[in-house]
Amino acid sequence: MSSSRFGSLLYLISFTLLLQIALGTNPLFHFCSSSGNFTTYGPYEANLNKLTSYLYLTAPPTGFGFGSVGPNQFEANGLALCRGDINSTECQSCIAEAGSAIRSLCPNDKGAIIWYDECQLKYSNIDFFGKIDNQIKFYLLNTQNASDRIYFNGKTKELLRKLAEEASCTPKLYATGELEIAGPMKLYGLVQCTRDLSSIDCKKCIVEAISELPSCCDGKLGGRVVGGSCNVRYEIYPFVA
Ligand SMILES: *[C@@H]1O[C@H](CO)[C@@H](O)[C@H](O)[C@H]1NC(C)=O
Ligand SMILES: *[C@@H]1O[C@H](CO)[C@@H](O)[C@H](O)[C@H]1NC(C)=O
Ligand SMILES: *[C@@H]1O[C@H](CO)[C@@H](O)[C@H](O)[C@H]1NC(C)=O
Repeated sequence: MSSSRFGSLLYLISFTLLLQIALGTNPLFHFCSSSGNFTTYGPYEANLNKLTSYLYLTAPPTGFGFGSVGPNQFEANGLALCRGDINSTECQSCIAEAGSAIRSLCPNDKGAIIWYDECQLKYSNIDFFGKIDNQIKFYLLNTQNASDRIYFNGKTKELLRKLAEEASCTPKLYATGELEIAGPMKLYGLVQCTRDLSSIDCKKCIVEAISELPSCCDGKLGGRVVGGSCNVRYEIYPFVA
């Protein structure tokens, strides 16, 4: 997934779709890499199956798991991450769903990634651990506008920057928080990184995601920038447990 061949992909999903997502267990987005196809029933597929089971078993207790299975040319590398507030039961069912969905969406691809509201799953024949994944990113937004765009954007940035600081100082690389703003109303934020990143890279990844908010979510009452290594989200309603 980290090869520059994939190019960057920015994707926009409207609020209408966002509402549909909230009602089902549909993935938010997925991406099949073009790093090659594996042979059905071949050694890569066997390793990928083992990896998926491994992630299904090891990720839920802490909300994160990563690992590699198999020797060199048939090695499958992968990770699974659940949103920081999700319990292990829900985490496991999300990973199970992700693992089966991605295989039917990207049948023979050696690399792929899929995102849900509550978890994400990624695998590749390329060892991508510890590197910020800049190849793929998508945006989600609430199309409603804030009445004072400049003020609202500023407050959003203020909250998310504070959370970036907090997340990078915790082992979970996750933080949520609220901010009272004029209206009066409340802003709710979340930032999270995959835990193969260092604290420094986590912060870098989140700061970069925040810097993309003006291009996706300028003055919008809700927005998310979601990538392979980190994501940021803000809303005017609470969305985590
Ligand atoms: C993988 O398979 C698909 C569908 O058969 C094909 O279009 C694609 O070119 C293949 N990719 C590589 C890297 O061989
Ligand atoms: C996990 O969370 C779900 C949804 O909030 C809840 O229904 C379930 O009881 C929780 N399970 C445990 C073991 O806490
Ligand atoms: C929000 O503002 C944009 C730009 O001014 C406008 O095009 C759009 O229709 C507005 N959206 C809503 C939901 O009012």
